[in-house]
Amino acid sequence: MILKPKSMISGTGSAIPKKKLTNFDLEKIVDTTDEWIRTRTGIESRFIAAEDQLTSDLCAEAAINALDDAGVSVEEIDHIIVASITGDYGFPSTACFIQEKIGAVNAAAFDIAAACSGFIYGLRMADSLISSGMGKNILVIGGERLSTITDYEDRATCVLFGDGAGAAVVQPSVDDRGILGTFIKSDGRLNKLLYMPGLGTAIPPQQSIDQRLNYIKMTGREVFKNAVTAMGDAAVKIIKDTGLKSEDVDILISHQANMRIIDATAKRVKVPAEKIFKNIHKFGNTSAASIPIALDEARKTKMVTDNQVAILVAFGAGLTWGSAAVRL
Ligand code: UT7
Repeated sequence: MILKPKSMISGTGSAIPKKKLTNFDLEKIVDTTDEWIRTRTGIESRFIAAEDQLTSDLCAEAAINALDDAGVSVEEIDHIIVASITGDYGFPSTACFIQEKIGAVNAAAFDIAAACSGFIYGLRMADSLISSGMGKNILVIGGERLSTITDYEDRATCVLFGDGAGAAVVQPSVDDRGILGTFIKSDGRLNKLLYMPGLGTAIPPQQSIDQRLNYIKMTGREVFKNAVTAMGDAAVKIIKDTGLKSEDVDILISHQANMRIIDATAKRVKVPAEKIFKNIHKFGNTSAASIPIALDEARKTKMVTDNQVAILVAFGAGLTWGSAAVRL
């Protein structure tokens, strides 16, 4: 039996910066080629925030678009949950800056740190707040300004990442539409396969800068292997746990990190090519923003419509991973 939802996604929105950085632009910066990037990752371009465009600006724009889509006023929002690894300041939370920018005066605002899986973690929190009666109108936002922590001297990572934000409004479910289930997991033993050593409190700030520790460090091949296994497992698990079957899935929205990982996940779930959502070619890897941007685009382009079932699945630093089954 398919599980009955307690909460639903009633609106989505996204925000993409204007400046486009193509593979050909990167060929001029590091020793790489468009061909290598496209065949190894599926990425053709990514978008980079303007100098004065903060993570909170991108998130605020995405949030306003999601509120418009849901027909919910900003005053009604009771929680703002923000997933990001590129917050505006050391503290307070980026959520509090977004709260100010959109005027959500009645909300509690806080950030969560689960890297690329952050939006799924946030969705699970929103679903549980609503299920427990503690929340009614929740904004879940994933937003990143990864260009700030991308090392444009490291060809192994700089070709991958882009900036952007996506948001969803989560409200109590009124019918069979909604979040059918969520799953999250992490393996902290692998915390240094993908991390930024500097700019925390472990390493003095000057040392971080002198040794280029204020940038993303990734052991790509190991992360790749773990991602293929974990995302496949997470997608299969959420389908089974919610009582769905592969043929019930109308769209598979995977974290857009690498086209080969997306295809491997789809193969595990036995979802045909036309049901696999991909926008990695345009935006690259936008970490926590990847799933909500994809979900928004899939809805707005009518690749998925109301009452259809979406499987969301993400993987990222931590290592963290997770999945959600949603009847939209
Ligand atoms: O969002 C969070 C999760 N992140 C991910 O899921 C990312 C997972 N990892 C990946 O997507 C892939 O590992 C990468 C796309 C990062 C790398 O692809 P790969 O097929 O695993 O390549 P590799 O790291 O094993 O490198 C293969 C070769 C190396 O050269 P040698 O040692 O074979 O001579 C690299 O130096 O490719 C070289 N290389 C490049 N060549 C041209 C690495 N980066 C580049 C580049 N351009 N940009």
